[in-house]
Amino acid sequence: MNLVFLGPPGSGKGTQAARLSAKLGLVHLSTGDMLRDAVKKGTPLGQQAEAYMKRGELVPDALIVGLIEAMVASGDMKSGFILDGFPRTMPQAEALDRMFVKNGINLHQAVLFSVPDDEIVRRLSGRWHCPTCQTGYNYPAAMPDVAGKCDKDGALLQRRPDDEESVVWNRLEVYKRQTQPIEIYYRQKSLLREVNANRSPDLVFEALMEATAAKATR
Ligand code: AP5
Repeated sequence: MNLVFLGPPGSGKGTQAARLSAKLGLVHLSTGDMLRDAVKKGTPLGQQAEAYMKRGELVPDALIVGLIEAMVASGDMKSGFILDGFPRTMPQAEALDRMFVKNGINLHQAVLFSVPDDEIVRRLSGRWHCPTCQTGYNYPAAMPDVAGKCDKDGALLQRRPDDEESVVWNRLEVYKRQTQPIEIYYRQKSLLREVNANRSPDLVFEALMEATAAKATR
């Protein structure tokens, strides 16, 4: 099954993509994770992307499209995938369609995770992670046993720089301006399926399983 996950920051795309890819054996490609890794390693891509990410802006299409093009051409996605965080602009969506045609890939569904803005700000203000083992925490729903320290290895927890509240509001604004048009694009192709993601992760996962159930054979 080949899926695109759409939705504003903090709507749970990454959380649900990890669960669904583990359950169905799909490749999970998160452009946000790829870019953060590039920033951490100080690669040329990371150096170019860092300032955009800190401000909550999208990195230029030319930088990110090449990354996905290489993944699609590698054949690693042949057995099914979830694209989490790509496409995010109309030029990216159109470039993705061209890649799929060129490589004989069908997109089965674009899943849209819907969550109101105030819940998004609440979730992202409470998000922390362990820099060593990447375990995620969320205050107050999933707090560590010792405040500020990872349960698994005791490392000091960190926040993503773009989870600072003013940056979150900018990310939301950027989503509405640059990414929301893609919802219409996929709706017109009859590929869009909306999931109410403003409930517990387990209930969202149930709805996701239901939404994607009939798509594997298309
Ligand atoms: P990216 O990392 O993709 O950020 P995002 O879309 O803003 O996604 P998040 O990771 O913040 O949210 P999510 O929807 O995955 O939610 P999550 O599951 O993590 O991109 C970062 C930056 O990279 C962009 O701003 C841009 O600069 C750049 N970039 C990336 N892709 C790009 C592209 N294609 N083009 C250009 N630039 C690009 O959950 C969030 C929190 O909520 C977690 O703490 C989680 O535990 C909690 N949570 C999850 N589900 C629930 C639930 N149901 N109930 C309560 N809490 C929940």
